[in-house]
Amino acid sequence: VSPDQPLGDVAVEVFRAEAHRFVDWIARYLAEAERLPVLSRVRPGQVAATLPKAPPASAEPLSTILADVERVVLPGLTHWNHPGFFAYFANSSPAPAILAEMLAAAFNANAMLWKTAPAATELELVVLDWLRQLLGLPEGLFGVIHDTASTATLVALAAAREAVPGLDVRRRGLVGQARLRMYASDHAHSSVEKAGIVLGIGQEGLRKIPVDDAFRMDAAALGRAIAKDRAAGFTPFAVTATVGTTSTTSHDPVPAIAEVCAREGLWLHVDTAYAGAAAAVPELRSVLEGCERADSLVVNPHKWLFVPLDLSVLYTRRPEVVRGAFSLVPDYLRTPEDALAPNLMDYGVALGRRFRALKLWMVLRAFGTEGIAARLREHVRLARLFRSWVEADAAFEVVAPTPLSVVCFRARFPGQPAEEADRRNEALMDAVNESGEAYLSHTRLAGRTVLRLAIGNIRTEERHVRRAWELLREAARRLG
Ligand SMILES: Cc1ncc(COP(=O)(O)O)c(C=O)c1O
Repeated sequence: VSPDQPLGDVAVEVFRAEAHRFVDWIARYLAEAERLPVLSRVRPGQVAATLPKAPPASAEPLSTILADVERVVLPGLTHWNHPGFFAYFANSSPAPAILAEMLAAAFNANAMLWKTAPAATELELVVLDWLRQLLGLPEGLFGVIHDTASTATLVALAAAREAVPGLDVRRRGLVGQARLRMYASDHAHSSVEKAGIVLGIGQEGLRKIPVDDAFRMDAAALGRAIAKDRAAGFTPFAVTATVGTTSTTSHDPVPAIAEVCAREGLWLHVDTAYAGAAAAVPELRSVLEGCERADSLVVNPHKWLFVPLDLSVLYTRRPEVVRGAFSLVPDYLRTPEDALAPNLMDYGVALGRRFRALKLWMVLRAFGTEGIAARLREHVRLARLFRSWVEADAAFEVVAPTPLSVVCFRARFPGQPAEEADRRNEALMDAVNESGEAYLSHTRLAGRTVLRLAIGNIRTEERHVRRAWELLREAARRLG
């Protein structure tokens, strides 16, 4: 044990010097991310094969470890911070959030109880009320931060199950009780079905409602499915509407779905994981029309609100039901403040909770609501511009509406059978992705392969979108 490496930790002076070195490295990485291949070129197993099989017996200097980050980790990353990242839902890690994560790691606060992290708990409540205002959601909603939308939706649907009269699932379990049914469109995210698996509803307990030609849930078909299920002895209990579906960002008709839920006495959960952010732009606020009637709503600042993974928010009008579903307090977690302040562990599965509110707070403050709206507005403008290029080129076609910042399109390959056209579209996508300059992902619509260009990275500029379009056109020409 050297004086620089005492048993507890590295010396403070070492930390200070290394922190400067690491921050310099991060600043260079962010500035130069654009020159790295956005999609990693490593093959499966390649990174693991480069790493030692066992941990080092003696301490290694942080400078050596950072050198290995550069040598081994960096080439093995697909760079979500690259401005040419257009796959899935692009997101980003802006400077204020990186600094917030540094502080959160330093504090290592566990916001399970108010007492174990008073500032983290209260900042979470306040910053989620700021976000509620930013999105134009009604007063009185209670928000809690979760790791992901998948978890938030699981929590919401568990609360919905708890709210079924006479069931008392929490105490008695589901076995031998009512056969529950819940509903979502067949374009809803797989996290809804997964919640069904976890909650004992089963995959068959989720009824997938058909969509119209703009990929929006058919509210009349929802009403019919509920009636049919009731007649067959099932107990309908919840509907998940999606505003911003994963494939096309279509918006289910929430006002009509809310009507059905009110009439039928069902819990309405709205998944706005991606699109909810758009409500921060005054002229786009109508995306959340009808959501004031939802029992719960999830929005992911880690998708399109410039907060890095992981930060998902579950808002609810009925926090007492969520709490009733999840609160379980052993003696060792009781505190004198229990009656005076919320303990956020009571609103979900996890006991330990990271201090995630800090990064949302810092991003909202460092950009301001106008700065957030300006960035979102620019992404929407870029998506419309890209769409106009696709529409103007006879070799391509747009295949879904573009309500926000994602464009669904494909190359036509006239005269080719559908399967061959699909194969060539996949080859087209692979060719663009192999360029290292842009990264797109795909989906399937009406049984056909479709490419998606999703804009959402804070560093994406018009020139990056233009370059992706050039690459697509070149590759389409090569593929005939
Ligand atoms: C509409 C929608 N809901 C939920 C999710 C799941 O998000 P998370 O990764 O936060 O669980 C996604 C992911 O893309 C999504 O598109």
